[in-house]
Amino acid sequence: MRMYDLIMKKRNGGVLNEDEIKFMISGYTEGSIPDYQMSAMMMAIYFQGMNEEETLYLTRAMEYSGETLDLSAIHGIKVDKHSTGGVGDKTSLALTPMVAACGIPVAKMSGRGLGHTGGTIDKLESFPGFTTGISTETFIRNVNDIGIAIMGQTADLAPADKKLYALRDVTATVDNMSLIASSIMSKKLASGADAIVLDVKTGSGAFMKKEEEAFALAKEMTTLGNNAGRKTYAVISDMDQPLGFAVGNALEVREAIETLQGNGPDDFVELCMTLGSYMLIAGGKASDVEEAKGYLKKVIEDGSALQKLGQFVRAQGGDDRAVFDPELLPKASIVEDILSDREGYISHIECDEIGVCSLILGGGRETKESEIDLSVGLVLRGKVGDFVKKGESIAVIHGNDRDKIAQAKERFLKAYSFSKSPVEKKPFIKGVITP
Ligand code: URA
Repeated sequence: MRMYDLIMKKRNGGVLNEDEIKFMISGYTEGSIPDYQMSAMMMAIYFQGMNEEETLYLTRAMEYSGETLDLSAIHGIKVDKHSTGGVGDKTSLALTPMVAACGIPVAKMSGRGLGHTGGTIDKLESFPGFTTGISTETFIRNVNDIGIAIMGQTADLAPADKKLYALRDVTATVDNMSLIASSIMSKKLASGADAIVLDVKTGSGAFMKKEEEAFALAKEMTTLGNNAGRKTYAVISDMDQPLGFAVGNALEVREAIETLQGNGPDDFVELCMTLGSYMLIAGGKASDVEEAKGYLKKVIEDGSALQKLGQFVRAQGGDDRAVFDPELLPKASIVEDILSDREGYISHIECDEIGVCSLILGGGRETKESEIDLSVGLVLRGKVGDFVKKGESIAVIHGNDRDKIAQAKERFLKAYSFSKSPVEKKPFIKGVITP
């Protein structure tokens, strides 16, 4: 088999078979197929697309390009959760202890943030000493002992995707539905969970700006998961404005803690309740959403979800005192209001831009090697539909550098649009796809 022939076949609109896809992925992973040929193939796929079978073959070839995690030593049905990413997305921090407190084992692999969306691992490191660099043995033992563990993605997990994603990133071939779906699902399948609940975001702060694209991606990913024998659900949720109010690592941890204390923002609570319900259904704990929501409400009300977060942080080396006293989380030296320069109903928030403001303050990574400042970020005071007077505070900015604060403030104000007449609040959950 020759890579040249496969590139030509795809360029001319042909369909690649399983052996051809396996040949291409194993050759690229081991280095016998060079970047320039794979770049040409990615561009051919970008224009010609892949059908459902090709996408499944690609996903499975990437899943098995390295180690796969065997979670069979963990008792019960293991349910994983994945978000396509967004601004202020601290969902895993609150959701995973809620689900674990309901008795469903959570064995999750998470990543770090790059660019303007933060990663769960960075956020968790707001607890001094906390680490996700644990061995697979510790990971499995912790899930069996306390019901929850989160580890960083190992280099050996789906290495083909790692290499390919980096290549797509620099060859303008990221935003193809089949390539995104296979990239995400190959990692999820290799992580070994029995069931998967996906949070697919749509809007100005998401990969998929348009709702119909998000639904198509959700459909593609659930089909892949189900065809691979894992029960897969997808919730399509709004990312046209930041999730909750807090954006920035330690600030988001604080908001997640407040949510576990029963004082979370409406949209964030709705998301945790919805994703959590499908995790409980997938895990066999509840038979419908109403029953599942009852369990999830109870673990918030009786404090067991917050206790579970404390247990989890402690088990992974973190100082759990901050779970019960968020004043101990990293704090910025300068905290001040951003005053609105206009008056009216908030009609739009350019969500990406709010993420960029946090990045400017030091809360995100410009490159893989960047150090991040866990203490900085923004806490919005209102969301789309709320009325704001000129000179009134629309957000609180947390920073450690005056120049950066000035830059972020200017950009923040430009990200808001206002309307003279009332603005309708759109539904936050756009839809759900069940197996
Ligand atoms: N996230 C991934 O992991 N892969 C993609 O292709 C896009 C987003």
